[in-house]
Amino acid sequence: MEMMRGVLLLALLYCGATITTAAKLPDTFLKCKRTDYENVCLKHAVEKALKAMKNGIPSLQLLPIDPLAVTKISIEEGANQPITVKLDLLNAELTGLYGVEVVSASYNLSQRIFDVEVFLPSLNLVGDYDMDGKFLLLPLKGKGKCNLTLSKFKANFLLKARDIKKKNDIYWDITSITLGIHDVSNFHVNFENLFNGDKALGDTTNKALNDNWEEFWGVIRPSIEQAFGDVFAHVANIIFSRVPEKNLFVSTS
Ligand SMILES: *[C@@H]1O[C@H](CO)[C@@H](O)[C@H](O)[C@H]1NC(C)=O
Ligand SMILES: *[C@@H]1O[C@H](CO)[C@@H](O)[C@H](O)[C@H]1NC(C)=O
Repeated sequence: MEMMRGVLLLALLYCGATITTAAKLPDTFLKCKRTDYENVCLKHAVEKALKAMKNGIPSLQLLPIDPLAVTKISIEEGANQPITVKLDLLNAELTGLYGVEVVSASYNLSQRIFDVEVFLPSLNLVGDYDMDGKFLLLPLKGKGKCNLTLSKFKANFLLKARDIKKKNDIYWDITSITLGIHDVSNFHVNFENLFNGDKALGDTTNKALNDNWEEFWGVIRPSIEQAFGDVFAHVANIIFSRVPEKNLFVSTS
């Protein structure tokens, strides 16, 4: 059987004209020494940076990340499997990123590899949906408002970057990001207006999805990981494309 997967995500992250001069990190960020390659300083620096991005960073033209405006996530998973999901999430708002706690952070500077593990108490997405598929013996079909909550989970980010030279400075350019979401304690969903508003069938379906959340989450997880990984690569690139490498660390001179 063929496994089908597709994902597309568009989030609004930055605005305005391109910044052409080398920017500094905002004062709300914490800088580490180049030699602080593991935990302590780096862990605090990453957590502070994520929290500082809550309402956006005007000097870097970064829009707010909590709530984060997500224009579209398209999920297509499990064709011809017992669980098949074709789900578009549109005009959505993602809240909860501010609650992030960084569990560990390390990098290998010479290799330009960063490894960050975070814990999130809760991440909530509210928006419009359009769904078609099947869940075990139940059909999944509807279009309306939805509310999805992923509770208490860990996420691992592995970022790889390369150097690019602009004017006289070196900047980091993220070339790949791998996101793994694990240790999820619950995934709660509410899809309004399933089956053209048939309340009994809608309630039964939402209950089945919530009673068997591990199966439902398991199927859509790869798409969500890819979509959120892409968002974080964009966020990181907004900062790294504007702040040269030399301004990311405590100056040693
Ligand atoms: C970074 O990676 C290189 C090559 O694999 C290795 O020799 C070096 O020890 C690593 N540095 C750290 C700080 O782990
Ligand atoms: C979404 O659902 C959660 C419970 O799972 C609830 O606390 C929250 O108020 C809901 N949000 C909206 C906008 O309906």
